[in-house]
Amino acid sequence: LPKEHSLMIEAHELLAKFYHHLLLNTNEGAEALDYLLKRGFTKENIQNFRVGYSLPGWDFAVKYLENRGFSHEIMEKAGLISVREKDGSYFDRFRDRLMFPLHDSKGRIVAFSARALTEENQPKYLNTPETVLFNKSSLLYNYYNARSHIRKQGNVVLFEGFADVISADSAGVKNGVAVMGTALTEKHVQLLNRLTNSVTLCFDSDSAGEEAAYRSGLLLANYAIDINVAIMPDKLDPDDYIRKYGPEKFRENVIGNAQTWMAYKLHYFRKGKNLQNEGEKLSYIERALVEINELENPVERELYLRQLSEEFSLSLETLIEQQSLLSGSKFKKQQKKIEQRNTLQPKKKNQ
Ligand code: CTP
Ligand code: MN
Ligand code: MN
Ligand code: MN
Ligand code: MN
Repeated sequence: LPKEHSLMIEAHELLAKFYHHLLLNTNEGAEALDYLLKRGFTKENIQNFRVGYSLPGWDFAVKYLENRGFSHEIMEKAGLISVREKDGSYFDRFRDRLMFPLHDSKGRIVAFSARALTEENQPKYLNTPETVLFNKSSLLYNYYNARSHIRKQGNVVLFEGFADVISADSAGVKNGVAVMGTALTEKHVQLLNRLTNSVTLCFDSDSAGEEAAYRSGLLLANYAIDINVAIMPDKLDPDDYIRKYGPEKFRENVIGNAQTWMAYKLHYFRKGKNLQNEGEKLSYIERALVEINELENPVERELYLRQLSEEFSLSLETLIEQQSLLSGSKFKKQQKKIEQRNTLQPKKKNQ
């Protein structure tokens, strides 16, 4: 490891330790601690995930690291401080925020994500920018700590955010990791693939989360990973759900009842469709038939065909006949177009 990199990591470790101390043991951190406890985090959560608090001042980290012999160059390269254009002086990137240390896959702190304590303070989460050590699209939150649990359970639960991972951990779901507001990437999948070939997607149940689950599933499916999708009612996110219904319901009704990837795709395709309308109904049925046709397992294929047959009062024979018509090349082309349209269209955010 180049000297520069180990210094950057050391700077993060030192700051993380101090932010953590500020949060737990000082008057300056009392309000932030109160916020976390009111949200339902426990002291144990805070300790396990080494959550901290950064002071409101402009140059706490600058001074703290200066005193320990770090150069401004290292601090800036690490993404911890920024430089003022007008006079070249330095200031802290993270001020008056909850600090979540981000560990790389070897367990070293390489970045922070910092949550605002009030709505007025935007953005809600402020992350370390891209650095030589940190790239959002190749780091999964809690990967290092969850590794042994993922291996043991033969499954990983993939969440959207920090709060979800932390709440789930205290609800006994310790094999959880999170992407950090980005799409799941090939690099993320490779990290997961080292540990397991079974992924449970547990994204927020708002429309952004449902989109993300669909896209993530498509990517995971390319790697022949076994996918299940957990769904919560009322557009809740996993953290909200656990606060509202408790850990047991979360483990049993959400994680334990996660749908198969096929069932989720069917749920996804009928979203926003009015199945009373003949045209929309037909297009849903066709879409479902194409998807079901791609299943390799004949038992699964029949299972979903039967469901479709019952739901729309159509005979299995009719469905199978339609399916073989649909697998003709002309139709495949058409489907591909639809697929592309579905994946490329920018989606309206509608939380
Ligand atoms: N995120 C981010 N920047 C933002 C908003 C979100 O980086 N401005 C990332 C964070 O990693 C966050 C995740 O996207 O954890 C999911 O976003 P969201 O669901 O909005 O946040 P929550 O995790 O639910 O956070 P909280 O419960 O604290 O509001
Ligand atoms: Mn969300
Ligand atoms: Mn959320
Ligand atoms: Mn949340
Ligand atoms: Mn839904």
